[in-house]
Amino acid sequence: MKLTKANSSAPLDCSTDPVACLKKMFIDMTMGPRINAGQNPVRRAVFLKPHGIAKADFIMMPGLPEKYRIGIFAHEKLEAWLRFSSDTLPGYADMKTTTGIGIKLFGIPGEKLLPGNEYADTADLLLQNMDVFFVDTAKDMCEFTRAGVVDHNYDPYLKAHPRTSQILDEMEKVVNSCLTTSYWSGLPYAFGDTAVKYKLEAISTPFGTPPSQNNNNYLQADLQARLNMGEAQFKFLVQFSVNEEKTPLDKATVEWSEADSPFIQLATLVIRKQDITAQGQDAYGENLSFNPWNTLEVHRPLGSISEARKAVYQAGAELRKYKNGIPAAEPLTPRELNQP
Ligand code: HEM
Repeated sequence: MKLTKANSSAPLDCSTDPVACLKKMFIDMTMGPRINAGQNPVRRAVFLKPHGIAKADFIMMPGLPEKYRIGIFAHEKLEAWLRFSSDTLPGYADMKTTTGIGIKLFGIPGEKLLPGNEYADTADLLLQNMDVFFVDTAKDMCEFTRAGVVDHNYDPYLKAHPRTSQILDEMEKVVNSCLTTSYWSGLPYAFGDTAVKYKLEAISTPFGTPPSQNNNNYLQADLQARLNMGEAQFKFLVQFSVNEEKTPLDKATVEWSEADSPFIQLATLVIRKQDITAQGQDAYGENLSFNPWNTLEVHRPLGSISEARKAVYQAGAELRKYKNGIPAAEPLTPRELNQP
């Protein structure tokens, strides 16, 4: 695995091939210089600050109607590992950062959509604590990223795109806990022959002693304290598309209104009481990779941003695992909880 030489003066044409340009900017131009500067272990390009890795169960709602029992929802109960993270650098304060969750579900037979990964027994779900994404399409994402990575100045882009600017401002909201915030997929996924967006909503969370707000690793400390106290639960919900105007598939800044289409709970994510600092748990989660395309055809990621994520995430994870000496393959079985 080699990095192609990053040449910031080479034209990055977002109109003709935004996916290739995004791959170059996220992998060659973001991960590349960090690796060349000695980053060890090599980390993800984004969401590189982990708050905690936790074992969970993904339990389908009892009596789920037949029409919802497709793909992963056709199972009664699945084991899962979760990675909570923020889109900032390790060591930086995290209370106002974009917070995300990667969910790896185990025990899912059937061909997966990720090239080279077709026979993995896992499926991934990725959500972040904002209901919309800050740009509409892969081309927009490419132009936005180019403003930062190549021009080192987002201002002209943000002036010309006030909706992006507004969403990014909203994304700087305070996050009190990884276990009380809601998470959304932002982008749509197939649900058989229709489309849905995903949401996770906290139902119950143990209340530990709040960590000091001056702690740069506040979210990690909070997660650790709460899960030491007891079990946390989230509803896993889906929101069905209605029509292209109200629930567009390739305009990620548009909120799908709950008045047009309410969320429906299909499953519960149960995070049992555990010590997230148990030996090996952090390293296990850091070495996993989550990719929206590691899923079944019935849950195919939709829209141009999803298309871009396929290539970018896979290239990033392959490079990271290669440099860290970790097998690229998906795990065959979930790690057992190592608890006293
Ligand atoms: C074109 C748009 C996007 C690009 C280029 C992009 C890029 C990336 C990359 C390179 C990674 C690291 C992958 C790895 O090395 O394993 C990542 C992780 C992540 N992204 Fe995105 N992303 C995009 C859109 C989104 C959206 C719409 C969401 C909303 C849910 C999202 C949420 C996340 C999360 C939660 C992670 C962390 C996953 C983990 O724990 O490993 N991203 N993204």
